[in-house]
This record gives sequence, C-alpha cells and structure tokens, in this order.
Amino acid sequence: MPATTPTQALTQAGQALADPATYTDEHHLHSALTLLRHHAPVHHVTAPGYNPFWAITRHADILAIERDHTLWLNAPRPVLRTAALDQALHTRRTQGKALATLVHLDHPHHRPLRAIAADWFRPATLRTLDTRLRHLARRHIDTMAEHGPACDFARTVAAPYPLHAILTLLGLPESDFDRMLHLTQQLFGHDDDETGRGTGTPHDHTSVLEDLFAHFHDLTARRRAHPTGDLASRIANARIDGRLLDDNTAASYYILIATAGHDTTSSTIAGGLHALITHPGQLRRLREDPALLPAATEEMIRWVTPVKAFMRTAAADTRVRGVPIRAGESVLLSYPSANRDEDVFDEPFRFDAGRRPNRQLAFGFGAHFCLGAALARMEVTALFAELLPRLAGIELDGEPAWTATTFVGGLKRLPVRYSLT
Ligand code: HEM
Repeated sequence: MPATTPTQALTQAGQALADPATYTDEHHLHSALTLLRHHAPVHHVTAPGYNPFWAITRHADILAIERDHTLWLNAPRPVLRTAALDQALHTRRTQGKALATLVHLDHPHHRPLRAIAADWFRPATLRTLDTRLRHLARRHIDTMAEHGPACDFARTVAAPYPLHAILTLLGLPESDFDRMLHLTQQLFGHDDDETGRGTGTPHDHTSVLEDLFAHFHDLTARRRAHPTGDLASRIANARIDGRLLDDNTAASYYILIATAGHDTTSSTIAGGLHALITHPGQLRRLREDPALLPAATEEMIRWVTPVKAFMRTAAADTRVRGVPIRAGESVLLSYPSANRDEDVFDEPFRFDAGRRPNRQLAFGFGAHFCLGAALARMEVTALFAELLPRLAGIELDGEPAWTATTFVGGLKRLPVRYSLT
C-alpha cells in the first residue's frame, strides 16, 4: 500500500463524514474528526454521491455559526443526504409534499411554528410528567428483569422506552407504538441494512415518509373534531395569523416530534449504559453517589452525541476561521467533533460521570436549539434512577453494534448479562 500524504489523509477524513459506515466504528470516526480538528477545522469535502460541503469540526466555530441564524440558514439543506435524495426531496418540495418542519424553516416562519409546542417542552411543564416518566422507566426495567439474566438492552429497553414517553406526550394510543417504532427507525436508519428499508435508495426514504404522512393525516382531523388536551390536539388546533396549520405542516410537526424525540434519546441511554459497563469505576462512583446523576446524564449525552450533524447554508459570502465560504455553499456542523474538542473539554476522551463544567453541544445552539432537551435529560435521568439501585452486576454479553448513519444513531445492539433485584 502506498503511504498516504497529509493531504490525502485529510481528504479521506472529510469523505469519511459522508460515509454511514464510519459511524459504526467510533475509533475510526474520532480519528478522522481529530485529524480534521487539528489540521483542517474548516475543510471542503467532495464525497462520491454527495453534493459538496464544508466540514466544521471546532466547538467555537459551530457555536458562532449557530448563533447567526440570519446568515446561516437551515433551508434548503438542513441535513446531509446523498445528492440523489437531495434531488428527490427537492422534487417533493416543489410538489408541496415534502416535510415542512422546524428544522426545514428559517426566520420569520420558524419562530411562530416553534412557539406552538414550546410550552409543552418547558422544564416547569414537564415536571408534571415526572411521575409518569418514573412509572414508564420502572415498567421497562421490570421488562429487563423478566428477560434476565441476559438481553439486548438496545432493543428491550433503550428503543421502546423513549418512544413510549414521546407518544404518550403526543397523546397516541399504545396500539400505535410498534408501528411508530418501526417507521421512525426506518426513517433515521435508512442507510443501515438492518434498520433501513433495504436498499437505502431515495425511494425507500420517501416511501417511509408516505407511510408516516398517511398515519398522521387523520390524527389532525380527529383532534380537530374532538380536542383532548394532549400535544397532538394543541398542534391540530393551533393557528398562525388566524389560520389553522395545513395538513402537511401539522403532520410534519407530529413526525418531527415522534422521530426527533425517539432515536436520539434511545441512543443516549444505550450508549450511556455501554459507557458505564466499560468504565466500571464510573459505574461504582455513580451508584455510591446518586446525586451525580444529572451530571452523568449530561456526560452520557456528550459521550454519545446521537445527532451526528446538522447543516446550514450561507445566505451571503462570508468567512469561517478566515476561510472564505460563498453564498449558497453548505457547512456540516459535526457535533461529535465539537464534543471532543480539546479547547473546551479537559481530557475529552475520558468518560467522567461527574464532569463539570460540561459545555456539550449535542443539542445544538441558538434558534433551533433542541426543543426536547429538557425532556431528553429527564428521560435519561429517570431511566438510570430506576436501573442503578436495582443493578447487582452487569457485563457485556457479546459484541455491541452501531447504526450506519450520517444523521442520528448510536448502538443498535447491546447484549448484556446482569443481575437485577
Ligand atoms: C432539534 C439533538 C432529543 C425534539 C435538535 C437539534 C439537535 C438535537 C442537535 C438541532 C439543533 C440545532 O440545529 O441547533 C437532540 C439530542 C437529543 C434530542 C442529542 C437526546 C439526547 C429530543 C427530544 C425531542 C426533540 C426528546 C422531543 C420532542 C427536537 C425538535 C427539534 C430538535 C422538535 C427542532 C428544533 C428547531 O428546529 O427549532 N435536537 N435531541 N429532541 N429536537 Fe432534539
């Protein structure tokens, strides 16, 4: 094999960010990100099958870009997709059939739409949900106990628990849960042979969307006819400038909440447990001092960083770290890289259940800062608050596996052997 030159190594590292397989191997991912952070923190990537983009890997640069939401727009390319899927989604947009969610919108349309659900996600409102969450967490740990002494924690606990939590908040019946679990995993895991719809083509992705739209269209009609006081009723009956949301926007809202509120938190919970098993000293520390749990939750979120990237497109010619970027060019904000940035975190590759301060960027920043951040923190904390006191011992029981994705994902398999009281 010929030796790789520094330029070739950077080219390969940039291209790795557009390869879903990279995210199945944390060592490979973080080697590429560390190289970029140190030698080319604003790096132009041309990867086969993708429209070009700039990879942004420093915490400070990502923060500055997210702060300026008039210069850096979410539309028309909020997420990294293949060029073929970019094109298919563009076509759906021109037909009025594309997702119209918060992450697809910019000022001034974004804020009124966000305001519709914002009240529901404030910590004060969510506190009323705490008892229900604890109950839900207990149910899932009971299921784990029934499966004992071994289970795939990712499938048995980490995947269903956050989905139940978010669909309960939305107001959907339990009979919908299995179908939604399947559809959201297909939507986010469409690059993965096991969780996607098979071939990873634009058609797979849009056919999952069709199914989700079909599922949610009549929910709007039902909640308009008979409002029930749940979040779905709030969305169905909300008005902007005196008008109800059109069907597409309402359905997109449910889909965003159901999907954004699910795989993200389940990846954090599975990755968090994996971190505790592979750092037994930190597990002991947490069991001895449960007051550390909020800090441990924050560290699990930093450690896992389930959202791999969002994108922004420049509205005008500008510079990042002195590098010129032209109007219309897109940047990829690498959250896993920001969360291992040596300028911000002391020993970033150490899992520290009591890390303080912890300026993790996993929820993004600014106008689009994760709407569900407080809920996600509550869910993770509630689950480990139930699990840890009952856990007499736990170890890996096989090889863990990570989802192939460039967007949202984490552990899809976590075989564990344990004893629970
Ligand atoms: C947006 C991460 C859980 C709902 C986002 C963004 C990130 C993110 C990175 C984009 C932020 C930006 O562009 O600056 C996460 C992580 C989670 C999580 C790491 C779990 C650990 C949740 C949950 C919900 C949720 C439980 C519940 C519904 C949303 C929504 C948006 C969003 C609605 C769009 C906000 C907007 O564009 O205004 N999330 N999320 N997320 N998240 Fe989360």
